[in-house]
Amino acid sequence: MQKEMIEKLQKNLLKWYENNGRKTLPWRNLQNDANRAYAVYISEIMLQQTQVKVVLERFYFPFLQKFPTLLSLANAKEDELLKAWQGLGYYSRARNLKKAARQCVAEFGGLLPRKKDDLLKLCGIGAYTAGAVACFGYDACESFVDANISRILKRLFALENPTQKELEFRAKLLLNAKEPFNHNQALLDVGALLCLPKNPKCKLCPLNAFCKGKNTPELYTKSPKKSYENLELDLVFLEFGGKFALEKSTKKLYNGLYNFPFKENLKPYKARFLGEFKHTYTKYKLKIKIYHQILQKENMEFEFKSLEELENLALSNLSLKALQIFKAQNAF
Ligand code: ADE
Repeated sequence: MQKEMIEKLQKNLLKWYENNGRKTLPWRNLQNDANRAYAVYISEIMLQQTQVKVVLERFYFPFLQKFPTLLSLANAKEDELLKAWQGLGYYSRARNLKKAARQCVAEFGGLLPRKKDDLLKLCGIGAYTAGAVACFGYDACESFVDANISRILKRLFALENPTQKELEFRAKLLLNAKEPFNHNQALLDVGALLCLPKNPKCKLCPLNAFCKGKNTPELYTKSPKKSYENLELDLVFLEFGGKFALEKSTKKLYNGLYNFPFKENLKPYKARFLGEFKHTYTKYKLKIKIYHQILQKENMEFEFKSLEELENLALSNLSLKALQIFKAQNAF
């Protein structure tokens, strides 16, 4: 694409953003905030695998209230951190936040570094997040490519199977060096609001006149189908003296989170069936049946917690869903 075309595209994009962008998102309005880069960093990590609406309405402000600075994060207790992350899933994100905060204290004077190359040294930060934190947190002239921007670039340049490097090259080509912040936020918005995987709104798109893929937009969104394994599991509320059995996971994904036990380890049992629900977890499509059993003596394999104590523990999403059903059934 020629220079004049690129300038025209940049102008169209910014004009569209001015009139239609999500400019009021809180992490886009931190220009006068001393803690700007940290608050941007938290937003970017949360937004990696969670929708804007969910982050905005349930997680962003409570998390910043609990951990207002990088230093507070570096000193966070693991269980408090996981509790603040409860419901967001992908808990390695939370553990990496703390590791990265400690790296900043040890190596970067307690601040998030400004340079992309330094940001890349931090745990849990890849090319996209390093670029986004540098640009949105420090106004650096950086381009970057996430799933949404990738889809825009594939369509715009009609690239069916580009490498990541090729996409990053194209993103850099388009970058508006005078307004990198608005340019990149605008691209994220075009990706989220117009250049949708299915039924993109090409007629409304500020890039329409330049887009080589607009007549066959579906060509650029083919992704290999994820294959799932079906599994049925029985989860038990094992009750003793008004408290419930829990296991603290030491396995990779759930590490540090609490789970109610599964029944296969508990034979023989005489449990009452309470209900069932579906849950998707990594590559598994799970059907979870819930049971309740009152024990006559304590089982030392487990930690027993009251419903009140459970409020302060970080439970896996699966166990949280089960707890909701259990509470509804027992009218707690
Ligand atoms: N997803 C990732 N970064 C974002 C941002 N800054 N605004 C909206 N959605 C995003």
